[in-house]
Amino acid sequence: SDEPLVLGIETSCDETGIGIVRGTTLLVDAIASSVEEHARFGGVVPEVASRAHLEAMVPTIQRACETAGVALTDLDGIAVTSGPGLAGALMVGVASAKALALSLGLPLYGVNHLASHVAVDIVEHGPLPEPTMALLVSGGHSSLLLVPDVTSDVRPLGSTVDDAAGEAFDKVARVLGLPFPGGPHIDRAARDGQITIDFPRGLTAGRDMERHRFDFSFSGLKTAVTRWVTAEREAGRGIPVADVAASFQEAVTDVLTRKAIDACREHGADHLQIGGGVAANSRLRAMARERCDRAGIQLRVPRPGLCTDNGAMVAALGAQMMLKGREASRLDLPADSSMPV
Ligand code: KG4
Ligand code: ZN
Repeated sequence: SDEPLVLGIETSCDETGIGIVRGTTLLVDAIASSVEEHARFGGVVPEVASRAHLEAMVPTIQRACETAGVALTDLDGIAVTSGPGLAGALMVGVASAKALALSLGLPLYGVNHLASHVAVDIVEHGPLPEPTMALLVSGGHSSLLLVPDVTSDVRPLGSTVDDAAGEAFDKVARVLGLPFPGGPHIDRAARDGQITIDFPRGLTAGRDMERHRFDFSFSGLKTAVTRWVTAEREAGRGIPVADVAASFQEAVTDVLTRKAIDACREHGADHLQIGGGVAANSRLRAMARERCDRAGIQLRVPRPGLCTDNGAMVAALGAQMMLKGREASRLDLPADSSMPV
């Protein structure tokens, strides 16, 4: 095959992800996670994450190659997340990628983590229509991105002004006594609940909305949930966890889908792609489906395993860069923890 065979390395947070893609075909997505080591701290501990990447890196690369039936010497390129993310965690991935590129004599492609969350949908649903609107919602980011070309032109239209959507899920889960990371637990709890509480929708009305059309704010919502729960406890009442979860989840997904569809309309995008860990949320998927159908917008959401951080997304974007003839990175490529898109 003359399609480029690319190995991608993702270490921006707590997942050591190794993916191998041939052109636009995913061959393997191998992952090692340190999430359990962080659970008792209620959040990701950077130093713990870096050490875990260092231990998992080579075994995960070996497992990916074995599963795909690929030898390192078959590869045509190495791609790696060079930012944004946790500095020490990124450095482990970038150093590993350089070692592979140098020893194998292959081009190295440093890629942006947010862009690769968008690019992964190519191996799932084929070429991205240009432009695509992307809603990226994870523990670290909540952004609306206009994507004329995922390899070279990704334009941020707005992002969160405080907490990321996933962070809000994690914090509210904590208030409700659910384990970390809280998103999946809220999702599950909400299935048995009713939307009984009208929690605030940040930046959706008045002056705030005008100044922050495509920005998000979730800290007011988190505070409102905390206040509600505290008041119930102080009144000696039990907490209807399922109802609080469903009501909170409704507020988040309402704002996300409303703003995403407004952005599509305003920028003439008739495709909306949703990525990031929160894209695994069942209510968000259902609501986005419903509202996109009504608005005549095509919805693209990768399978949940490709929405959370993984190596396939990095390999997918690296392969696109090779296919489009983009310039490779130099071997002194830095890790940039606050890299913009
Ligand atoms: O993309 P991701 O794996 O890592 C980064 O943060 O970059 O996203 C993790 C986030 C966590 O905050 C987690 O609680 C949230 O995604 N999450 C969910 C669900 N599954 C994961 N949030 C809501 N519903 C879910 N089903
Ligand atoms: Zn991510």
